[in-house]
Amino acid sequence: IDIKTLRSVTKGVTTIDPGFKNTGSCESAITFLDGEKGILSYRGYSIEELAEKADFLEVAFLLIFGELPNKEQLDRFHNDIKKNSIVDEDVKKILDAFPKAAHPMGVLSSLTSALTAFNPESVNVDSEEDMYNTVVRILGKFPVLVAWTMRKKSGLPLDYGDKNLGYVENILKMMFKVPNEDYTQSQILVNALDKLLILHADHEQNCSTSTVRIVGSSHAGLFASISAGISALWGPLHGGANQAVLEMLEAIKADGGDTKKYMAKAKDKEDPFRLMGFGHRVYKNFDPRAKIIKVAADEVLGDLGVKDPILDIAKGLEREALEDSYFVDRKLYPNVDFYSGIIYRGMGIPTDMFTVMFALGRLPGWIAQWREMRLKKEPIGRPRQLYVGETKRAFVPLEKR
Ligand code: ACO
Repeated sequence: IDIKTLRSVTKGVTTIDPGFKNTGSCESAITFLDGEKGILSYRGYSIEELAEKADFLEVAFLLIFGELPNKEQLDRFHNDIKKNSIVDEDVKKILDAFPKAAHPMGVLSSLTSALTAFNPESVNVDSEEDMYNTVVRILGKFPVLVAWTMRKKSGLPLDYGDKNLGYVENILKMMFKVPNEDYTQSQILVNALDKLLILHADHEQNCSTSTVRIVGSSHAGLFASISAGISALWGPLHGGANQAVLEMLEAIKADGGDTKKYMAKAKDKEDPFRLMGFGHRVYKNFDPRAKIIKVAADEVLGDLGVKDPILDIAKGLEREALEDSYFVDRKLYPNVDFYSGIIYRGMGIPTDMFTVMFALGRLPGWIAQWREMRLKKEPIGRPRQLYVGETKRAFVPLEKR
């Protein structure tokens, strides 16, 4: 049946599927995911190969435009991003108004939405050229907002990057450069962040991406759609899991490192505690990103000379879960965020910035999905419901209630 005529053929029959566990919301040519076999690929290239051989900007281009760029295309893309990396000075005033203790995800979502006010032309995406300009604008400005958000927390003055650096190198410098101190770029950090960003770059119709597509489907602008995606990502059941994992591992360590006690809590249905970083809506075998990240965590911490007891606790939990029928029967394996926070921590990134780093990685995916949705002229996203409330009632005046 032609999908457009389905509704008239079924005469308004509505499928109830809480959490959209069995509902496809679109056709997409961006990311392929086989949860049973643990396969993930972007535009046909395996995540393993991309994480090993490509850099983040190439992957961003691939996701958004469908093909790996040649040298000339990549240079042009990068130059256009650099040209658009200035954020209006007045945005600093908005940032100033936030309390220092504000969660960076709330700040980032607000600032990203505020960008529309300073770039009203970005809402107009009628032509391919307008759309391209909007895309390079957000790719240029978003890392600045990320770095400013972190610098505000660490009490460092806000700064712009260095146009001579690569995209990821520049992000790190914008985050960490201390005034009047020499800044030496660490290739270990650049490579580690590049890989983490690639692993997070897209994951088909997850909660935040579906949010971006649904907000964008009303023809709200890209910045507003991304801002909504950031809010969706914030929650601990989604991107916020990387922060929650680290806090959980810290709590286990502070409690004497008794992993068995926490395994028991996770299995106790009366206890709201869940083993953060375990389980996935789609992966019912293993998360291929988690495999890559586990190896990367060992490498990066080794290269940086960091010995982190938290890593040992994480490995202990994973070992125990793999042998525990509760986790095995429910196919609960470590997901991408079980180990990512340990790497971010080793890199010197504060815990409440972890989900912001996820957003930085997911940005090209959100853009690609939004662009695909707009180019395909998808209809506005508008699910139905099954009404289970009161039926007809007579109004009772206030004094009689
Ligand atoms: N710890 C303990 N039990 C769990 C966990 C967990 N982390 N995850 C799922 N379960 C149990 C549930 O209690 C449920 O048990 P039951 O069948 O006895 O009722 C069963 O496994 C199925 O879980 P659901 O919540 O129904 O699975 P769903 O697909 O809705 O949720 C989710 C997936 C949200 C990822 C869940 O596994 C979870 O909360 N994990 C912890 C948070 C997390 O790591 N989120 C990051 C996801 S990856 C990402 O967004 C990047």
